[in-house]
Amino acid sequence: MENGNLKLALQKKGRLTDKSLELLKNCGIDIENYSERLVVTSKNYKIDVLFLRDDDIPEYVQDGVADIGIVGENVIVEKKAKVTYLEKLGYGRCKLMIAAPENSLPKTVKDIDGKRIATSYPSILTSYLNENNLTAKIIEISGSVEIAPSLGVADLICDIVSTGNTLTMNKLKKSFSVFDSEAVLISANSKFEDDSKNEVLKDLLRRIRSVLTAKNSKYLMMNIPKESLKKISEIIPSLKSPTILSLADEKMLAVHAVIPSDKFWHIIDDLKREGASGILLLPIDNMIV
Ligand code: PRP
Ligand code: ZN
Repeated sequence: MENGNLKLALQKKGRLTDKSLELLKNCGIDIENYSERLVVTSKNYKIDVLFLRDDDIPEYVQDGVADIGIVGENVIVEKKAKVTYLEKLGYGRCKLMIAAPENSLPKTVKDIDGKRIATSYPSILTSYLNENNLTAKIIEISGSVEIAPSLGVADLICDIVSTGNTLTMNKLKKSFSVFDSEAVLISANSKFEDDSKNEVLKDLLRRIRSVLTAKNSKYLMMNIPKESLKKISEIIPSLKSPTILSLADEKMLAVHAVIPSDKFWHIIDDLKREGASGILLLPIDNMIV
């Protein structure tokens, strides 16, 4: 399979699969018919996607089986993989948490002492216990950790919580947060021997960064009275200087600006107070950074 393509490892089936494919799509990279196939070569980009179990991705990248990978930070840290973080991707956010049956929730961290904790994250959990001077029996389970308390195998669990649905369905409640995670793009080294792979990676990173920036930004358009321009320019949290256009009505101006998405609702009242009208907020597909 040495076709010079960049080999990207993705989770075969799980929380990160759809979002990762969506990211590639937004980067203009088509990955077709991926279901049930181990390797899919893109038709319009020099990339092969390897669909793997997320737990295997850090080692495969470290050992060079895949050139780069997308995986949760929780898995990278647990596997103690020697990899370089190329980019945090802002999705797949979750927490590794200690959780317990609703009726026996620990009140303080000290209450964990001496308990049996089921987890697929023995290494991260051990560090947490050591940092808090706690001793507990770690029961290592590779999947469906959430059923351990009801089977009587463990008193507590330490597992990934994202929406919290899995805990609720198993009548468990979160108690302490152990580790915060999100999806990250990793590679074994920041450079490959094969220079054409370096070129592809450079282009891919540029596309990913532009998609991520665009996702956090919106295009704001509005009309304002000419005399408010100075005040309105101060209100707008623009990434760059706003665009000012003249209108048929000479007393008015049109103002366009790229703003961070989360700022809009904070400035809307101030803009209106200064006479802004016809306010439009548009999504941005891509933004070259
Ligand atoms: C985790 C965890 C739960 C689920 C929790 O699995 O083991 O099954 O996510 O999510 P929720 O709070 O939204 O219900 P993960 O996706 O990390 O994959 P895994 O199957 O490899 O453990
Ligand atoms: Zn897994």
